[in-house]
Amino acid sequence: MALAVVIVLLVAGSLIFHFASPWYFTPLASNWSAVDFTVGVTFWVTGIVFVAVNLFTAYCLIKYRHRKAHRAHYEPESKKLEISLTAITAVGVAAMLTPGLFVWGDFVRVPEDAMVVEALAKQWHWSYRFPGSDGKLGRTDVRHMTVDNPFGLDPNDPAGQDDILVANPVLHLPVDRPIHLLLRSSDVLHNFAVPQFRAKMDAVPGMVTYQWFTPTRVGTYELLCEELCGIAHFAMRGRVVVDPFADFESWLAEQPTFAETAARPMGDPQSGAATYAVCSACHGAQGEGNPQLNAPKIAGQEAWYLKRQIRLYQQGIRGTDPRDPYGMQMAPMANTLTTEQALADVAAYIESLPDRPAEPTVSGNAARGRTLYQTCAGCHGRDGRGIWSTNAPRLAGMSDWYLKRQLEYFRDGVRGAHADDLYGLQMAMMAASLRDERAIDDVIAYINSL
Ligand code: CUA
Repeated sequence: MALAVVIVLLVAGSLIFHFASPWYFTPLASNWSAVDFTVGVTFWVTGIVFVAVNLFTAYCLIKYRHRKAHRAHYEPESKKLEISLTAITAVGVAAMLTPGLFVWGDFVRVPEDAMVVEALAKQWHWSYRFPGSDGKLGRTDVRHMTVDNPFGLDPNDPAGQDDILVANPVLHLPVDRPIHLLLRSSDVLHNFAVPQFRAKMDAVPGMVTYQWFTPTRVGTYELLCEELCGIAHFAMRGRVVVDPFADFESWLAEQPTFAETAARPMGDPQSGAATYAVCSACHGAQGEGNPQLNAPKIAGQEAWYLKRQIRLYQQGIRGTDPRDPYGMQMAPMANTLTTEQALADVAAYIESLPDRPAEPTVSGNAARGRTLYQTCAGCHGRDGRGIWSTNAPRLAGMSDWYLKRQLEYFRDGVRGAHADDLYGLQMAMMAASLRDERAIDDVIAYINSL
C-alpha cells in the first residue's frame, strides 16, 4: 500500500517538475523548430507511457494485494493482450522516431546558397575561417600549424591566400542566412553547440564534419564545446554574435586574410631595443622585473603572449579596473607602442633578453602544490614553460609575487572578467579552483621548484 502511494507521488512530482520547472529550452534562435517538435513528441510519448505504466503498477499493487482466502489465478498466455501491447508499442516507437528521420534528412542536406564558415576546435578554444573573395577555403594540414600559422593553412595553395582568419573565440554571423559550418579539430573530439540554434556536431581530428542552420534572431549567444575534451573542457567557451547583414559585413572586413597575417612585420630586436627604454624603467634593463615597482619579470616570456597582453591593455580590456592600480599604470605605457611594427620589435627584443629565474618570494607546501598544479599543467605544461597552442604563458622562473597577485585578481574578478577577454575568462574559471591563500601559495611553491 505504502509503495503504491510512493509511486503515485513520484508520478505527480515528475509531472509538476516537468511543467513548472524553470529549466527548459532556451528560446529558439534558428530555423530548427523541427528539433523542438521532435523532442516535444518524444516527451509526450515517453511521458504518457511513464504515467500509464506507473499508475497501472500502483493500481495492481492495491487491487491484487495479499488478502486471506484470495487465490491467484494463473494465466500463462493471452494472445489478445500480447497483440494489443505489441501494436501499441510499435505505434508509440514509430511516432517517436519517424519525425526524427525527416528532421535528420533536412539536417544533413545543406541548402545550396548556404554561406561557408569553418570553425577550428582546439584544446581549449575556438577560431574561425571564412573563404575570401574567391569563395573557396584553402587547403590545410596540421603539419603547417605553427605560432605564425595557427590554422595550418598550406602556404602554397593560392585558394588559401584570401581566406579570412578570426583568431579568437568570437564569431559573427549574419541573421537570416543559412550557414554551412565546417568543423575541424587539431587534437581531440570537440563539439560545436549553440543551445539556441538546436544544432550540434562533433569536430573530429583528421576529417571535416559539418552542420547547417539559419540564425533567425539578432543577439549574442554562448558557444559551448559539448564533447568531453580534457581537463579544461568546461572552459572551452566561445561566443556567436548574430548581426544584421551590414554589421556582419563590416566586422568581416576588419578581419585579416591569411596573406595579410603572413605578411605581418617580423620583430626586429635591434629596433626594439630603443623602444624598450620606456619599459626598462620599471621592468629592468634585462627585463628581470622589479618587485619594488610592482613590475614583473618579462624576460623569458614569448612574443605571442607579450603582444596579446599589450593589445589587451591598448584596447582597455586590461588595466581599467580601479582595483588593479598596477594594471592602470601599465595601460598608458602600452599605448606608447603605436604601430604593429613597434609592438613586434619590442616583443622580439624582450624575447632576446637573457632569461634568469626570478628570486622566489612566496613560500608554501610544494608537495601539496604539485597536486593542485595538475590542473594548470593541462595548459601551461608540466614544466610550466607555457604553450602557445593553449594560449598559456610561461610560469616557471617568472616573478612569483606577480603570479600570486594575478591568481587573486582572476579569482576576485579583477582580471578575466571583461567580456572581451575570453582567454582571461578561462583562467578565471581555473583560478576559482584554488580555494584559499594557502592553495595559491602551495601551487606557486611548486611552480618555483620547476
Ligand atoms: Cu572541446 Cu570539450
